This record gives sequence, structure tokens and C-alpha cells, in this order.
Amino acid sequence: MILEGLERLEYRGYDSAGIAVIDDGALRITKAGGKLEVLNGLTRGGTTLPGFAGIGHTRWATHGVPNEVNAHPHYNTAKTIAVVQNGIIENYVALRKRLISKGYQFVSETDTETVAHLLDLYYKGNPLEAVIKVLQHIEGSYALSILFADQPDVVYGVRKGCPLILGIGEDGNFMASDVTAILKHTRRVIYPGEMEIVELKADGVRIVTMDEEEVTHGITEVAWDISAAEKGGYKHYMLKEIMEQPRVVRDTLSPRIRDGRIVIEELGMSDEELSRVRRVFMVACGSAYHTGVTGRYIFENLARIPVETDLASEFIYRDPLLDRDDLVVVISQSGETKDTLDAVKIAREAGCKVLAIVNVVGSTIARESDFVMYTQAGPEISVATTKAYSAQLIALYLLAMKFAEVRGFLHGRKLRSMLDDLMKLPEQIELMLGNRDKVQRIANRFIAARDVFFIGRGIDYAISLEGSLKLKEISYIHSEAYAAGELKHGTIALMEEGSLVAAVSTQPALHAKLLSNIVEVKARGAVIFSVTTMGNREIEEASDFCVTLPETNPLFANSLAIIPLQMLAYYISDGRGCDVDKPRNLAKSVTVE
Ligand code: F6R
Repeated sequence: MILEGLERLEYRGYDSAGIAVIDDGALRITKAGGKLEVLNGLTRGGTTLPGFAGIGHTRWATHGVPNEVNAHPHYNTAKTIAVVQNGIIENYVALRKRLISKGYQFVSETDTETVAHLLDLYYKGNPLEAVIKVLQHIEGSYALSILFADQPDVVYGVRKGCPLILGIGEDGNFMASDVTAILKHTRRVIYPGEMEIVELKADGVRIVTMDEEEVTHGITEVAWDISAAEKGGYKHYMLKEIMEQPRVVRDTLSPRIRDGRIVIEELGMSDEELSRVRRVFMVACGSAYHTGVTGRYIFENLARIPVETDLASEFIYRDPLLDRDDLVVVISQSGETKDTLDAVKIAREAGCKVLAIVNVVGSTIARESDFVMYTQAGPEISVATTKAYSAQLIALYLLAMKFAEVRGFLHGRKLRSMLDDLMKLPEQIELMLGNRDKVQRIANRFIAARDVFFIGRGIDYAISLEGSLKLKEISYIHSEAYAAGELKHGTIALMEEGSLVAAVSTQPALHAKLLSNIVEVKARGAVIFSVTTMGNREIEEASDFCVTLPETNPLFANSLAIIPLQMLAYYISDGRGCDVDKPRNLAKSVTVE
């Protein structure tokens, strides 16, 4: 039953899996690296693990490489408590140190094992009490399912910022991170609240608050079929992933901001080493390259370090002039892109340090680089990247700010105000997502377009590059991005009655310049869709359609402006009947040159 449930979660992508059951008062745990098939084989379709209550997990690595040891469930040394977790325990390093000083021995690199040992520390015969104590000590966003060997008929669960649902069945009850896992058994679902502790038994469910007050929630009947459920009710993974961006940004951001400072432990370079870096090279492909284009503006502006941003496929054949004091930053969602991987090799051969900003833990680029900064986007299924792009931007902001800090350009009020603006981004992205219906209406006007021009200056040019790529790759409409100031040097010849122009203007210092460019193309009959800062009335009035952004530091505007452009591409593609998640001729991971 558990294996079947895990199979339904396969779409999330996973790299290892495991199951724990209570059988005859003892915990039996089987884990395996690789796909679920391996675990299926090891347990002979689950038959080697008989039991009355059990938990299972497929892992998408966030801490530690994907292998058997790091796979869940994790357990205490006496193997009397087992736990599976989704999410991130942000303070696990401090907790781990504390537990080691108390004599606890860790076998894995995961944050989740901390929870198993903490439960052991607090368990004195009352599981509920132990769970509550643990919750008082762990920080982050997570969903947990827990077994105690001496409570053979109960599964404990809790959620904070991560999904956890309960299924009420005929012959037993269920707990899962997603309704897909249990739809075969029941459509009757309870949604527990944040930080409410669930005691799940075969014949009943009890839910209590942190003060041990009992709460009740109604049962909801789920109407989804399996395929809709996998997409969280969205029509496509791309839309689901667009909507996930507030969480992804929060998860990439918050573990790296502590006590008003930026802490990038993964960087592995002392402040002195950081201040010795003379030049930064940002190297990547496709959308990841576009984040590097943004990164260049931000690094140079904040940290006053010269930055070169290169397409990996160009970098590897141009015999770049690299020096030992240069830092090469490679950016990749998959961590498997061949051109980017070759760039890593070239940079290391030249004696440079390589920092990889990567989403997939344990991927080749992560393994081959000196340092890895993981984005916390989770598995991205849709071929066109959205949430991984947003997480990469956040990683680059943090990196640029760290460099600026150690080089003495960012401190005091300016640092505090930038940190405040960073922390507001998840909420502001949520606000931008609220424009969904409006963008869909605008998209209807663009559905029959033959060409679309994206224009912007500075950072807005970088966003234009990404907006244009999103549109062309999933809708097959020809589109290009132009640095707005370049129009007059040739491109403006293409403007005619009805030409579609998406104009991005988020940099106050450049509003007037962009306004002139809008007026110029409008005079030739162009229809304008603009994305600009709130209160920028002149650009709003000059545009046929406009989406505005809430106030933020102009260096972070990319994170907000990209949202309507992603949605525009999505709705145009869907409106044209294209295969949004699997555009023709493209692959999610490009492992060939
Ligand atoms: C566009 C897209 C691609 C990737 C590029 C690099 O939506 O997804 O342009 O950004 O192929 O892939 P990664 O980031 O895996 O190295």
C-alpha cells in the first residue's frame, strides 16, 4: 500500500526511497538509493515488510547526496523511532552540534536525522509530549510523519509550511503529502492546520494544538482524478510551478539570512579570500544564462567587481583569459548541462575556484565544482523553467550582497533595508500572481501574433531576454529581446501597424528613456504591453495593457517583473493549444553539446 502511494508521487522526481513499518513491536526499515523500482525489488513488492502501521518516503535531496544512507526514514540509534520529512529544518546544524555534544551519533548528512534524535531525547513514554517539545526546537518549513515502535497502532504527523493531508478510508486511515498518494483508497480528506499534531489510527484521527487542545476539521470530498491531482489541481505543471514561486523564493532565502546578516555557509571561502577575488565569470545556458545577465548588473552595482557573463557554449571555445584570483560562478537547474559542465572543467584546469548554483543535489556539476550553493526550488517538471529561474536569481542576490558586505560596500542602514526588501519578495510575488486573470485576458490579444518584441534597459533587458525565451519556447511564436536603446540602430525597421511590444521598465533612473522608446514604436503602430513600477503613470498611460509591480529595491525588480511574463507565455501557449509542459524539440536536461 505504501509503495503504491509512493509510486503516485513519482512525478515529483526522486532519487531514493524508503519504508518503515512496525511489526511485532519492532521497527523494520528498508531504504534504497535510486528509483522506487529498486526499493520495490528489495522488499519484493513490499511483502518483506509486513506491518499494521507504516511510513514511506521518496526523496528529492536537499541535504546530502542521494544514496541509501541519506534516504528516509531516519531513526534514532536504538531504532525505536522513525521519521520521514518533506521540507527543510533550517536550524539543523546547531541542533546537530547540540545532539552530538550529548553523545548522539549521526549516520546521514540529512537535516531529518536531527528530528529522529531530538525525538529520542524528549521521548519519556508520552509521544505527543515528545513531538511538541521537538516542534518547539526546530525551525523551517516541514511536514513530518513519525512512528514510535512502542505505539504500534499510531502514526504521528505535523505540518508547517509544507503540505500534509489525511485520508479517511473504509479499512484504515492515511496520511500523505499529496492527495494523489491515497486517491486509490479514499477521496475523503482532512486538511490539518499548521502546527497541529495528528494522531492517526486505523479507526480514528485525533488532532491537537501545541497546547494539547483538541481541534476538529471537516471532511472534504476530493473531486480530482489522478492526473489533475498530481498537478495540484492545475492544468499544467508549468502553472503549478509558477504558483509555487513564493515558497521557493522563501526557502532559498530564509536559511541564508541570520541575525541581520547574509550567511552562505556553502561558499567555503573566508571573508579574506572573498575580498581577494578580482573578477567574476558567470557561465550558464538558456534561462540560467539570463539570471547570470541580471547577476552581472547586480554584482557590479553592489560589490564593484568586474563581471563577465558568458553562454557556456561560447565560453568553452573562446579560450577565456582566466586567472587564479577569478571566481567562476556556474548556474544550472539540472546540474547536468553538458556545456556548463565543460565550463566547470575549463575553469578548474585554469586554477580558478568554481562556485555552482544548482538545484539538483548530487548532480554532476555539483560534484565537479569547488563549492555548491543549492537553490531550493524542488523538482521542476515542466521543461520551461520558472521556479528554478526565480530561485537562481535569489541565490545571485545573496551572493552579490555577501561580496558587497565583505568588500565594505554594504553595511548599516543600506544592508538592513536591502534585507527587508528581500524578505518581502515572497509576499510580493504572491501579489504579482494575483494578476493571473488580467494577464490571461491580455494573452488572448497576443495568441495570433506572428512576432513579439521584448524591450528593456539594464536589468530590464535581462528580464526581456527571459520573457522572450519563455514565450518562443512554449508558444512557437517568434520573439526577440532587444536592449531598448538599440532599436533605433536597425530593429525599429520591423515595427508596423499592430506589432506587439512587451516593454519592461522597473528602473526609476531609466523610466524616461524607456518611455521615449515606447513612444517611438507606438508612433509606428505598435501595441504595447508594459510591466512597470506602481505609480509610473506616464508609462501606464502610453501602454495599451499594463501590469504594475509593488515597491522594492530596483536591483530585485527582476523577481517581480518576470511573473507576468511567465504567465503571459503560459496563457498564450495554452490558448494556442500547445503542449505547454513538453514543448517540441526540447528536453529538460541537455546532456549533449
Ligand atoms: C528554458 C530552459 C533552458 C534551461 C537551460 C539550462 O526554459 O529551461 O533554457 O535554462 O537548458 O538548463 P540548466 O539550468 O539545467 O543548466
